[in-house]
Amino acid sequence: MENKSTLALVTGGNRGIGRETARQFAAMGMTVLLGAREESRGREAAEELAAYGDVRFIQLDVTDDDQISAATRTVDETFGSLDILVNNAGVIAERNITAATAVVDEVRTTYETNVFGALRVTNGFLPLLLRSSAGRVVNVSSFLGSLELSGRNSPNLGIPTLLGYNTSKTALNALTAQYAAELRNHPIKINSADPGYVSTDLNGHTGTRSVEQGAAVVVSLATLGEDGPTGGFFGEEGPVPW
Ligand SMILES: NC(=O)c1ccc[n+]([C@@H]2O[C@H](COP(=O)([O-])OP(=O)(O)OC[C@H]3O[C@@H](n4cnc5c(N)ncnc54)[C@H](OP(=O)(O)O)[C@@H]3O)[C@@H](O)[C@H]2O)c1
Repeated sequence: MENKSTLALVTGGNRGIGRETARQFAAMGMTVLLGAREESRGREAAEELAAYGDVRFIQLDVTDDDQISAATRTVDETFGSLDILVNNAGVIAERNITAATAVVDEVRTTYETNVFGALRVTNGFLPLLLRSSAGRVVNVSSFLGSLELSGRNSPNLGIPTLLGYNTSKTALNALTAQYAAELRNHPIKINSADPGYVSTDLNGHTGTRSVEQGAAVVVSLATLGEDGPTGGFFGEEGPVPW
C-alpha cells in the first residue's frame, strides 16, 4: 500500500476543465489520478501535467462498468481509500438545439455520461471515499441545469435549448442532493459546481471564462473544510439556484 498525500480522481481529466482541475490539484501537492477513456490521450495529459506534481493516468470510461470496477480495484489495492472524486466527464451528444426537435437517442447518450456515468463512478468509489476522513465529491454541473436560470422565467441568455444536456445537469444536481441527504451523518461532502461559461472544446471555445477560472470553482468545493456545506450547488460567486 502506498503512503500518499491527498488522493484525488478527476474523470474526463485529459482536456478542458478536468485537465486544469487535475493540474491545480497537482500543484497543491495532491496525488492525482487523471481519468480518461482513451489511453493515449490520458497518458499524454498525465505526462504533461507531471511538471506540476504527481499525476497518474487511470483508464476510466464512465459509461463502462468493467473499467469502473477495474479502476476501483486498482485504487483500493494501491491506496486503500480515496479523498476526492470529481465527476467532470461530460458530453453534449445532441445535434438538435430545440426541445421540439430533440432526438431521444441523443438525449439518452448525453444522460449515459453526464448522469448515469456520475452515478456509476460515485457508487464504484463510494466505499473508498467513505474510508477517507474527509471525503469530497464534486459533480461538475452547469448553470444550464438550473431550473430557475434556464427555465420558463429565466433571463434570455441567448443560449439555444439543449434539452438533453440541460436536463442532464438538472438530474446531476438531483443526484448531489440525494447522496448528500443519505450521507448526512458522515463527514463526506458532496456538492455540484457551476464552472461558468468556460472556453473549451465543448462549446467550440466560445466560452468567456478561462479553464483556470472554471476549475478554481471545482477545486474550492473539492477542498472544503470540515465546516463547509454539503448538498449544495455553487459557482464562483456562491450558491446557484437549483
Ligand atoms: N465549458 C463550459 O462552459 C462548461 C460549463 C458548465 C459545465 N461544464 C461541464 O464541465 C465538464 C467538463 O467540460 P469541458 O468544457 O471541459 O469539456 P471538454 O473540453 O469537451 O472535455 C470533456 C471531457 O470529458 C471526457 N469524456 C466524455 N465522455 C466521457 C466518458 N464516457 N468517459 C470518460 N471521459 C469522458 C472527454 O474525454 P475525450 O477527450 O475522450 O472525449 C473530455 O476529457 C463537463 O461535465 C461539462 O458539462 C462545462
